[in-house]
Amino acid sequence: MQMSDTKTVFGLPKLPYAENALEPVISARTISFHYAKHHAGYVDALNKLVEGTPFAGRSLEEIVLQSAKDPNATAVFHNAAQVWNHNLYWLSMAANGGGEPAGNLKRAIESDFGTFKDFRAAFTKAAVGEFGSGWVWLIVNRAGKLEIAVTADADTPLTDGKTPLIALDVWEHAYYLDFQNRRADYIAAWLDKLVDWHFAERNLGQVSDSPGIQAVA
Ligand code: FE2
Repeated sequence: MQMSDTKTVFGLPKLPYAENALEPVISARTISFHYAKHHAGYVDALNKLVEGTPFAGRSLEEIVLQSAKDPNATAVFHNAAQVWNHNLYWLSMAANGGGEPAGNLKRAIESDFGTFKDFRAAFTKAAVGEFGSGWVWLIVNRAGKLEIAVTADADTPLTDGKTPLIALDVWEHAYYLDFQNRRADYIAAWLDKLVDWHFAERNLGQVSDSPGIQAVA
């Protein structure tokens, strides 16, 4: 996380690829709006909201966890969680991603879901079925098992003590320019071409050492 004037000022993390790297699934135009307008907007709003408050000087993860429990900090939570969620989303994709995982992640998926095909069907069903704006996650629960989680709006599994391995943004701003109302096509293409299972496997490898919030350090 880039810091500038003080520890309380969050920066917009650099995209791990060029804006056109995920074409043709996600266009450079979508990435440009999504990253430079939506994600940047959450960062800017968060910086303004925490200035001069007890949240100032805290890490992003601390702000997410503390504001989630504070009924007077709803706006802080929404923006902090959206910054954190998007940080993970960009890292969850790669050019030439998609397909099936290998190694420890493959074994964990087969242990907890049956087959990769079973996992893919369940993940797709969860993502298509999320009624409004939200997120779909592959997470490690407190018992160390893989689960699919769905959260609405800015909500994040982080606040439940779960460790996200991968994040899929199903807000319309993530896909509408490219897929319009065809969310199912976005999800299928995301799984076929973009999801970065190597990133997920690295995150899985960190869980046993330090469970919690290692995915976006
Ligand atoms: Fe988004």
